[in-house]
Amino acid sequence: MSLVDNTSLKLPKENPEAEDFLPLLGTDHVELYVGNAKQAAHYYMSAWGFQPLAYAGLETGSKDRVSYVLKQDKIRLVLTSPLKPGGDINRHIEQHGDGVKAIALWVDDATKSYQETVKRGAKSYFEPKTIKDDQGEVVLSGIHTYGETVHVFVERSGYDGPFLPGYRTWDPYYKPESIGLKYIDHMVGNVGWNEMNKWVKFYAEVMGFAQLISFDDKDISTEYTALMSKVMSNGNGRIKFPINEPAEGRRKSQIEEYIEFYNGAGVQHLALATDNIIETVTALKNRGVEFLTVPASYYEDVLDRVGEIDEDLEPLSKLGILIDRDDEGYLLQIFTKPILDRPTLFIEIIQRKGAKSFGKGNFKALFEAIEREQESRGTL
Ligand code: FE2
Repeated sequence: MSLVDNTSLKLPKENPEAEDFLPLLGTDHVELYVGNAKQAAHYYMSAWGFQPLAYAGLETGSKDRVSYVLKQDKIRLVLTSPLKPGGDINRHIEQHGDGVKAIALWVDDATKSYQETVKRGAKSYFEPKTIKDDQGEVVLSGIHTYGETVHVFVERSGYDGPFLPGYRTWDPYYKPESIGLKYIDHMVGNVGWNEMNKWVKFYAEVMGFAQLISFDDKDISTEYTALMSKVMSNGNGRIKFPINEPAEGRRKSQIEEYIEFYNGAGVQHLALATDNIIETVTALKNRGVEFLTVPASYYEDVLDRVGEIDEDLEPLSKLGILIDRDDEGYLLQIFTKPILDRPTLFIEIIQRKGAKSFGKGNFKALFEAIEREQESRGTL
């Protein structure tokens, strides 16, 4: 695999390779299957500053599942739990623990999105269907992607309700303050050995995405472990899906650990964007969210590497925020520890100041931090 570094990073809008048979307007929502949606909703509100938006459950006529919908600026999270034994949601949770089931994409035409992708080889999750209530109608369709993860296409131009037909507004007394998260910057999938190129091909051929960038095991390795990664993006650049696979190292890579505990391929992290990472991360820490830390030595020479930045270094180093630069600017980023019991899903907070890349300069410090965590779990 050839190394494409930041200097050849293509701007999405100049990305002629991305085909527009599947115009995606953005991420509609991310749905997690979880063991206890009510308590998970409380966590994402109290710790992460999400606001209550909509609810479906027994009170709305949903007999077998309950869903809480949360919102922060453009980010919508759906937390779904089963109400009865058996069925797909229970089985998913039993296999994977809590995790991302659906990355839902906002489209103008969910029927055409389904037809175009299935024609190109996507495996159907469900055929286009129109759902209605007194606030209008939504067309949904779905296809499978890596592991048991799916993409749901959401056509919502004919709908005025809070989320989807069948949901009602959820307006509890408790509404913690937002912590300034704006939108989903990217969503990363971990796939098994030698599977990265298969899924890169899927996003290229079936979804019309183009490859923005790739990292090989020489970019992403430490003394012990390695991984490879390629970033796929749609035509307008609003959707970015890096795909990771493990690479040979002396010890077990974080991707292998993920695959082992998730029991297959799945979403590794959501990167959420903020306009003020210092304020956002300070609020998250105060609310109990735990982050990976890098040694103090990281900050001794970081400015030699990235040059001048607008922020003071002191609060960045105090919080453990990482810095990287590419041709177009710089970025600030930090990664949580896994947010679930299994060492699977985590969240990245990112603030872009011109940079369009993914923090390649931080990979080594970051992966050494992850290895320290793996060591403590006995999974390195
Ligand atoms: Fe990321």
